[in-house]
Amino acid sequence: TVVYVLNGPNLNLLGTRRPEVYGTTTLSILEELCREEATRLGLDLVFRQSNHEGLLIDWIHEAGARVKAGESIGAVFNPGAYTHTSIALHDAIEGTELPVIEVHISNVHRREAFRHHSYISPIARGTVVGLGVDGYRLAIDALHRMSPQ
Ligand code: DQA
Repeated sequence: TVVYVLNGPNLNLLGTRRPEVYGTTTLSILEELCREEATRLGLDLVFRQSNHEGLLIDWIHEAGARVKAGESIGAVFNPGAYTHTSIALHDAIEGTELPVIEVHISNVHRREAFRHHSYISPIARGTVVGLGVDGYRLAIDALHRMSPQ
């Protein structure tokens, strides 16, 4: 059984972009942390990052189909700035009924007002906000606990 971890725009810069906000863990170290957690739970990990909205939509469709096929428990998703802009990502998750836990490394509610609204939260099973990269591990664990398998 697979757990998806999907990352949106600029998360390839993790570790160097605004370390005071996002920390110093790089995306490849984050992938290893996620792999450890998935392995601990007996899950296979698919870990991806894209700066392209359409590609993220394609991956949501793929993950949704794999959930329907009984091959996946769903996705941990950090949509980056698309969180605050993308009706298309909202519709992709809603349309595929993909179980999603939304993750933000930073506490978006302590930051600029334009980060306070999420198009993803209303169709997410839950959200993890402001707990740093640790949020990914917690989200994988929560998705696993929620899954019927
Ligand atoms: C983010 C928060 C977003 O507002 C921002 O655009 C990001 C990262 C986070 O993980 O804290 O790119 O999703």
